[in-house]
Amino acid sequence: MAYLLGIDIGTSGTKTVLFDTVGNVVASALEEYPLYQPHVGWAEQRPEDWWHATFTTIETVLAKSGVDKQDIKGIGLSGQMHGLVLLDAHNRVIRPSIIWCDQRTTAECEQITTLIGRERLIEITANPALTGFTASKIMWIKNHEPKNYEKTAKILLPKDYIRFMLTGVFATEVSDASGMQLMNIAERSWSDEVLTKLGIDKALLANMYESYEISGTVSAQAAALTGLNIGTPVGGGAGDQAAGAVGNGIVKSGIVSSTIGTSGVVFAYTDKVTIDPNGRVHTFCHAVPGTWHVMGVTQGAGLSLKWFRDNFCQAEMETAKGMGVDPYYLMDSQAAKVAAGCEGLMYLPYLMGERTPHLDADAKGVFYGLSARHTRQDMLRAVMEGVSYSLKDCMEIIKGMGIPVSEVRASGGGGKSKLWRQMQADMFNTDIVTISASEGPALGVALLAGVGAGVYKSVAEACEVTIKTASKQQADAMNANAYAQYYPIYGDLYQALKQTYKQTAQVMAQLGK
Ligand code: XUL
Repeated sequence: MAYLLGIDIGTSGTKTVLFDTVGNVVASALEEYPLYQPHVGWAEQRPEDWWHATFTTIETVLAKSGVDKQDIKGIGLSGQMHGLVLLDAHNRVIRPSIIWCDQRTTAECEQITTLIGRERLIEITANPALTGFTASKIMWIKNHEPKNYEKTAKILLPKDYIRFMLTGVFATEVSDASGMQLMNIAERSWSDEVLTKLGIDKALLANMYESYEISGTVSAQAAALTGLNIGTPVGGGAGDQAAGAVGNGIVKSGIVSSTIGTSGVVFAYTDKVTIDPNGRVHTFCHAVPGTWHVMGVTQGAGLSLKWFRDNFCQAEMETAKGMGVDPYYLMDSQAAKVAAGCEGLMYLPYLMGERTPHLDADAKGVFYGLSARHTRQDMLRAVMEGVSYSLKDCMEIIKGMGIPVSEVRASGGGGKSKLWRQMQADMFNTDIVTISASEGPALGVALLAGVGAGVYKSVAEACEVTIKTASKQQADAMNANAYAQYYPIYGDLYQALKQTYKQTAQVMAQLGK
């Protein structure tokens, strides 16, 4: 028998999953770790926590599965994108990683835009400067922690740090590296022009691979710690979004995914570089060789519901514990009792600023339209609807770019909610499909490693063998009508608040918050 291991270094935890070659889960394990927010809008994690979670979950999966480690033909790495890991000359982590949702780099984005020019930057990197991307985080270190920058010998993304710990190799691959904003996206390589203009030495960056290529093998040290075989091939892997897309079969035109994890993402495959001139959606290299993708990202998707759960759903959390079920399951049945549109109550999900469609680090969450009739239950449903409206914002831009959308595949933790899927079907007016495989990113990178290791001939073949449709939901005409009427109001709310967000940020800065 042959097996493939997929490791997903996420924001809330690392999940390691062992698959057989037709995509069945043989065993899986998850270890969570904290997110540190030293200031409003800052977000950091410890790379050492990711590594701890990686080697312990590998060990657990091997023990649970009982498979012969010789039969593991390849390992794939997926991870939260954009995070900045700095290593010194002794390969030690210099400071906590500034991760994807950190919003401290507004000034650095302006600096990057000035140094390169907005149009030229979009021409090369396919995107405008964004606080989420790695380039602005590197510039922040240069500006605010020059001593740390001087010490830096290697700059890595989260999953590429894990690759280094597993193999001793400094490597990255096109899909995740696209989100550093240091690449020429059309050429699928580092951009000398961008690096020179930003004053970043190319020697600090890792070697670039295609996502299916084998980048290294498990070292003796990592084998001793994890229980893996020395020499097991480690594939290039992919950023979590491209990885999840492969795991959802988004490897051809027309099929689009909508993923609700911590962030929410609408992801479409393209066979040529397609750019939104306003930069509202990202254009990156896809994990399928010779192809690209477009994605809209809403920062606070699952994050919004988790925030609501942690602050307002103690009762559900207690009950769920007693019943041995997931609190989100109980929250779903509460929200399902409220009529679509929540009698005019709306939620803007900008808890961590927003990318698509506003590109505004100062945006904040809002409940609008509260009346004395509204209850906590209405607010819960409004949170789910607000996230769905934001996903619709992403979908509308993608459709507006002429990218075909014939089927939407729901995934991520939020994709497990039938209610949340129905809201999307109603808002997008498109069928929402789920697939049999639910381990999106981990499966995606296991398949990519399988291609590199010769288990499959191509990414398309790997998806063909492993991914089947499981359910389909259609739009409900009445709900669709209610949402269609509320959606323009949802859009107007941000426009009305845009200036107020800026003023609030200025006041907070003056008060030193
Ligand atoms: C994508 C993005 C998030 C992170 C965390 O651009 O920032 O999806 O990868 O999951």
